[in-house]
Amino acid sequence: MRCQLAIATIFAVMVMAGQAGAEDGNRGKVLYKAYCSQCHGMEADGYGVNAGYMEIQPKDHTEAKEMNARTDDDLFKAIRDGGKAINKSVLMPAWGKNISEEDIWALVRYLREISATED
Ligand code: HEC
Repeated sequence: MRCQLAIATIFAVMVMAGQAGAEDGNRGKVLYKAYCSQCHGMEADGYGVNAGYMEIQPKDHTEAKEMNARTDDDLFKAIRDGGKAINKSVLMPAWGKNISEEDIWALVRYLREISATED
């Protein structure tokens, strides 16, 4: 009896953790589509609607080679403090005042997911 209860509890925790994970993964994608796609593109490949008019092209976030050269902290900083903070173009806006730190991390995880890279 006690054993069944333990199994049921473990199962419930797994289900909850799974749901939390799925929601979290989706959050980065939703944020990206809302805030980033106009420059970086709906497919995150750097071809957003604004890209044609920009002197410096937005990053292709699916490019594993470039993304591998960045740490998670680099990506976080680029998003929070903007291009200028990492000696890149000011055309990359600073989002720190509009997007919470938690959501910026969700974006970093989303970038890792779509480029199939790790920290
Ligand atoms: C107004 C256009 C614009 C928007 C909107 C925008 N970006 Fe950018 N982003 C750029 C440009 C341009 C660069 C390239 C800067 C450079 O290479 O000098 C860039 C670069 C970056 C980089 C740096 C990559 C590197 O080289 O290390 C990251 C990370 C990034 N963007 C993430 C995001 C995220 C996440 C969002 C949405 C919250 C976003 N960007 C929204 C234009 C934009």
